[in-house]
Amino acid sequence: MLKPAVLVARAIFPEVLQTLQQHFEVTDNQADVLFDKEQLALSAKGVDGILTTGSERVDAALLAACPGLKICANMAVGYNNFDLAAMTSAGVLATNTPDVLTETTADFGFALILATARRMAEGEHFLRAGLWNRWRYDMFAGAEVHGSTLGILGMGRIGQAVARRGAHGFGMRVIYHNRSRLDAATEASCAARFVSKQDLLQQADHLILVLPYTAESHHAIGASELAQMKPTATLVNIARGGIVDDAALAAALKAGALAAAGLDVFEGEPRVHPDLLALSNVVLTPHIASATIQTRRAMAQLAADNLIGFLLHGKALTPLNGLR
Ligand code: GLV
Repeated sequence: MLKPAVLVARAIFPEVLQTLQQHFEVTDNQADVLFDKEQLALSAKGVDGILTTGSERVDAALLAACPGLKICANMAVGYNNFDLAAMTSAGVLATNTPDVLTETTADFGFALILATARRMAEGEHFLRAGLWNRWRYDMFAGAEVHGSTLGILGMGRIGQAVARRGAHGFGMRVIYHNRSRLDAATEASCAARFVSKQDLLQQADHLILVLPYTAESHHAIGASELAQMKPTATLVNIARGGIVDDAALAAALKAGALAAAGLDVFEGEPRVHPDLLALSNVVLTPHIASATIQTRRAMAQLAADNLIGFLLHGKALTPLNGLR
C-alpha cells in the first residue's frame, strides 16, 4: 500500500523524523530553510499532511495550492498561524500541542517575572561591561515578588499553572481576567480571584499575559491599558507578539509609566522593535518559553502522533476543528 505523504516544514528531532519515516513518505527540512509562501506551497504540493510550527502560515492560498491536504499538525499550543475557518471549510484538520508544555512554559513565565522584577539582565550586562567596582545600597534594587499582587490576563492551562506558582510558591495575591470566569473549584486550586480587566491593570504589581492571539486580543495591551498600570509595575508577555503594542510599551517604559518588562514574544518577530532594544529595563528572550529538551521533544512527538493517528487511523489526539 502506498504510504501517505507528509511534509515536515522545519528541522525536527531526528528520532521523531525517523518515527514519521516508518509510516509516511516524508519530505523533511533538516536544513531548516525558512520557506516563503511560494516555497511552502511548492514543498507541500501533493502531501496529505504537514507538520508545521508557528512559522508556517496555513491560509486559503496554501490550501488552494494543496488540494489533497488533510491535516496540519502544529508543533505549538498557539495556532494563530492557522486560518482555522479556511481549514475547516477546506476539510483540513488542524491540531496543536496542548498540555505537554503547560508546566514548562509556566516555569519560564515565572523566570521572566523574577528576572524582570529583580533586574537580572540589567545587572548581568553591567557586570559583563566591567562596570562593577563596589557594592551600593540601591544598586539594581528592583520590585518585590513574594507577597505582591500577581495579575494574569488569560487564564487557560498555562495561566493557571503560573497562578499556582505565584500563590503557593511565592505567597502572592493572585488576580486574573479571562473571557470567562473559571469554576469555583479551579479558582480555589490556584487561589486566584476573578477581576475586571481594569482592576487587573490597576492592581497588579506584576502582570503576565497568557492569552491566545486573535483579532480581539490584538493590542489588548496598548497605550491606554499601560497608562492604567502602576508606575512600579512590571509586564511579562509569554503569549504572542501583537497582544502588546510594542511601540506603546517602549514609550511607557521610557517615560517611567511602567517599571520594567519581560518579553519572550514580539510583534513581527524575529524582528524586535528598535525602541525596546534601546531600553535597559527590559528582559528580552527569543520565544523560548517552552524550550526544554523534554518538552520540545514531547511537542514534536505529539504533532507526529496527530499525523499518525489521523492519516493512518482516522483519529487525531488533539484536534482543533471538527470536520464533517
Ligand atoms: C509556542 O509559542 C506555542 O504556542 O507553543
